[in-house]
Amino acid sequence: MSLTTLFEPTPVPLDVARRRVLAGGLGSAVAAVLGVPFGGCAMSPASGAPRLGFASVPVSWDDAVRVPAGYSAEVLIRWGEPVGVAGQLPALTADASSSAADQAVQSGMHHDGMHYFAIPGADPNRRGVLAMNHEYTDEGLLHRDGHDSLTAEKVRKSQHAVGVSVIEVERAADGWRVVRPSRYARRIHAATPMRIAGPCAGNATMQTPADPTGRSSLGTLNNCAHGYTPWGTYLTCEENFQNYFSNGDERNADHRRAGVGRRSRYGWDRFDDRFDLAKHPNEVNRFGWVVEIDPLDAQSTPVKRTALGRWSHEVALTHVAKNGRVVVYMGDDRRNEHIYKFVSRHGYAGGVPNPATLDEGTLYVARFDANGRGAWLPLVHGLAGLTPDKGFADQAEVLVKARLASTAVGATPMDRPEWLSLDAASGDVYVTLTNNSDRGKPGMPVAGGANPRDNNVFGHILRWREDGNDHTSLAFSWEIFILAGDPRLADADKKGNVNGDAFGSPDGLWFDPRGVLWIQTDISTNLVGEKSGDYANLGNNVMLACDPATREVRRFLTGPNKCEITGVIMTPDNRTMFVNIQHPGETNSEFSDPANVNKLSSWPDGPGRRPRSGTIVIRRNDGGVIGT
Ligand code: FEO
Ligand code: CA
Ligand code: CA
Repeated sequence: MSLTTLFEPTPVPLDVARRRVLAGGLGSAVAAVLGVPFGGCAMSPASGAPRLGFASVPVSWDDAVRVPAGYSAEVLIRWGEPVGVAGQLPALTADASSSAADQAVQSGMHHDGMHYFAIPGADPNRRGVLAMNHEYTDEGLLHRDGHDSLTAEKVRKSQHAVGVSVIEVERAADGWRVVRPSRYARRIHAATPMRIAGPCAGNATMQTPADPTGRSSLGTLNNCAHGYTPWGTYLTCEENFQNYFSNGDERNADHRRAGVGRRSRYGWDRFDDRFDLAKHPNEVNRFGWVVEIDPLDAQSTPVKRTALGRWSHEVALTHVAKNGRVVVYMGDDRRNEHIYKFVSRHGYAGGVPNPATLDEGTLYVARFDANGRGAWLPLVHGLAGLTPDKGFADQAEVLVKARLASTAVGATPMDRPEWLSLDAASGDVYVTLTNNSDRGKPGMPVAGGANPRDNNVFGHILRWREDGNDHTSLAFSWEIFILAGDPRLADADKKGNVNGDAFGSPDGLWFDPRGVLWIQTDISTNLVGEKSGDYANLGNNVMLACDPATREVRRFLTGPNKCEITGVIMTPDNRTMFVNIQHPGETNSEFSDPANVNKLSSWPDGPGRRPRSGTIVIRRNDGGVIGT
């Protein structure tokens, strides 16, 4: 289906566009034509007061965080500050002269997904634990002299700057602060011992010279978005692991699909053999997983949950289905990759789960049919061509090579699935599809169905409802919730159908307990904040609030130059919000120039200081509920 058949070629008057959006938008139109019983807007009628009660923040090109009138935002923790491990509190160094050992107890770089956990016995609105991801490093900022003249010490520092930070935070008289020292404070990074669990544990594909058992592992990296379980653990998702390895084998279909090249981006392989696939071909199989962490036990061993499959994991949304099975929805953020769900074999009824809850179950991949329906296809060894003669020796190989398995069973290639969130009121699952410049290119999937635009520059948000609102169901109905875009553009395919503030490249996505859908954008570095091109009107990356009943979108926050906005969570009273500002000042080069670190941003510390990713705390000045 061509988008031009659904959109007028000339700009649509706002009231008409609004009525069309309110009437259900593109997906509902498709569903209505085909008689598919998906609730659309009718499923979540606005009742009582409108959900959004703040004045939209103007589009910004300022090197600053802007929030609505009546709100304030303060920095809580930036890259390089100590996380609060007792006796190990090395202060931030303005010139990045911290050692690798310092970095192992300081906040990592490039803050991403995060979750807030209550501490037993403490008022969760005043004190809690934040677990947050650190996606990747800018080697030009990380080291005083940048990435040139790489040394083993610099590689170790880089390895210590990714992973996860666990920090204790409290609201003092003068605002929120990090508790230092804290028994919860911890860094988990690319050299932290882990356990491998699930069907791949012990499998030949996981065995290396350093770990002939295939049951233990060293480290987690490129931790993008996240999840959390009903039993209080944190899930961190390993995204672009391929960038850390060298000597990918062109003849290896999994290496090709993962994009493991000859050269690694970060150069770790030059000082740490396990990242050189010519020497340790299986090491790459030990990354690309969801890792479970107990945020309240700093001595606990993180566990790689291989039953959840291996790919560029973005997010792991857990939900307990009506029958008690634990469902984990997941996406693979690569152009034309897939959306998955895991359904546990064991039920969960509260308290301590069966230890195998995330190790035993069935992994499915989604097929989105053009008629608004969809199916979950099992990735089970022996079924649908997942057999030894097709390269899948056993279930472990199906999980390690989940992308290849998904193609074999007929999954739908998507426009880069980023975050997922579940609307508790309706049971609907929402996903951001951030963009896809490859769709429609020769040899690539073409526009249609759930991915309706070729060269999808602005991305879209899609939602589905499982049949019977049963999250273990194998069939669902879907619709496109919002096509992002800018109605001021001439190209009809790029106008989108946003009711309210235009946006593009949605990434972070989170339903707060009130039912407000928060949307965070990650316009790519070469486009964001530029005064020309498709994104010329949209300024810096933003966070928006959306009322799912009306689909109105309102800009809540604008970020500093060349940052991405990602990671959002609130205290249970909805009066304190934590948001991550990632990679302010990022350049189009592989790494920043260490001789000119302030080229594009000096957020948050101001002129002359190198830009730093950081967590901010947002409060309403009157202490009220955020967003109302
Ligand atoms: Fe790291 Fe897919 O964003
Ligand atoms: Ca992301
Ligand atoms: Ca992204």
